[in-house]
Amino acid sequence: MSGIYIHIPFCKQACHYCDFHFSTSLKKKDELVNALAKELVLRNDEFKNRIVETIYFGGGTPSLLSIDELRFLIDEVYKNYEVSESPEITIEANPDDLISDSIVLNPAEVRPLTIFHDYKTIGINRLSIGIQSFFEEDLKLMNRAHNSEEAKKCLEEATKHFDNISIDLIYGIPGMSNERWIQNIETVLAFNIPHISSYALTVEPKTALANFIKKGIIKNVDDDLAQEQFHIMIEKLRDAGFIHYELSNFGKPEYFSRNNSAYWQGKPYLGIGPSAHSFDGKHRSWNVRNNSKYINSLEKNILPIETETLSTTDKYNEYVMTGLRTIWGVSLEKVEQEFGEKYKTYLLEQSQKHIIEQLLYLDDGKLLVTKKGKFLSDGIASDLFMLN
Ligand SMILES: C[S@@+](CC[C@H](N)C(=O)[O-])C[C@H]1O[C@@H](n2cnc3c(N)ncnc32)[C@H](O)[C@@H]1O
Ligand code: SF4
Repeated sequence: MSGIYIHIPFCKQACHYCDFHFSTSLKKKDELVNALAKELVLRNDEFKNRIVETIYFGGGTPSLLSIDELRFLIDEVYKNYEVSESPEITIEANPDDLISDSIVLNPAEVRPLTIFHDYKTIGINRLSIGIQSFFEEDLKLMNRAHNSEEAKKCLEEATKHFDNISIDLIYGIPGMSNERWIQNIETVLAFNIPHISSYALTVEPKTALANFIKKGIIKNVDDDLAQEQFHIMIEKLRDAGFIHYELSNFGKPEYFSRNNSAYWQGKPYLGIGPSAHSFDGKHRSWNVRNNSKYINSLEKNILPIETETLSTTDKYNEYVMTGLRTIWGVSLEKVEQEFGEKYKTYLLEQSQKHIIEQLLYLDDGKLLVTKKGKFLSDGIASDLFMLN
């Protein structure tokens, strides 16, 4: 099981909270798409004996690419890699891109509302739609490019064509009451969406949001309220038949993200595009986080990549971190087999205090976070880390 992630580093406008890599200028879109294809060709050796089970267009905003550009990239994957018979192919899409009758990205490129049909014809079978909130106040505060009406219209249209849909929602937004949050969840449920990814609004340094909070223009996020909203979501989604399979991800059975599940289970993946990360089981690597440098390097057939070899301790720490975030937990047997007795003993010793505080529990040889520990799982994991 392995996957290919393709990063599309363009957005129509910058959301105030976001520090992912993207440019709001689309001038270099053509060159960048060619560079992505070149990287796919240059790196096919790395996946020689692997079958690609998932292809994931992430961003930035992949829905800013035309159907021809997406088809071209998918074709390049098929030409250069062995792809399974029924791969999961996901595109992250912004609501406004999906419903505009004709988006003019440049005068030659006008796109009618056949987009869902077009996505299907090129093999895309999963949509991940960045709704974030259905309320105008929240969308404005975050500087999203869509409005509340577009968010709903988009889901109305999308559900006519796709059943494998995931929605991104953000909670803990300054000024968002629990009532508003509950309405957001209920709106998603009313559309019968089978997968939800939901994150607490994080104030990343150097973003516009951080600046507005510093200046007192926007209230700071309230961690206690965010925690309440996280627990409200867990209960509401559980009652609606969702499985909370990863800290920020909820899916109906059969609708877990195959791409992300593989990533959380430590399977190899190839990250194509500026700022994309890759993992081959032993090394972690990351591409340059700059569109021009990325394009220039690939024009010279040079991969703009840095690589680090993971030590046993690095691998143990990563496994603990991701394992605790998922329903698969941290397997003591796996820790012993892959990292050694020393690591298992250390893990058990370090977990004691959290087990007593009922933040962690052991079940069938697996260490898992309790309901109380869920919001704190990253902090708990860092207590279980071994120092290099
Ligand atoms: C980076 S975006 C890419 C997909 C698409 N452009 C979108 O906005 O939905 C993926 C997800 O990360 C979330 N995200 C990015 N920065 C965040 C932050 N500081 N706090 C919470 N969620 C964040 C976005 O809202 C989005 O749901
Ligand atoms: S959240 Fe998505 S749309 Fe907004 S700036 Fe980040 S990548 Fe772009």
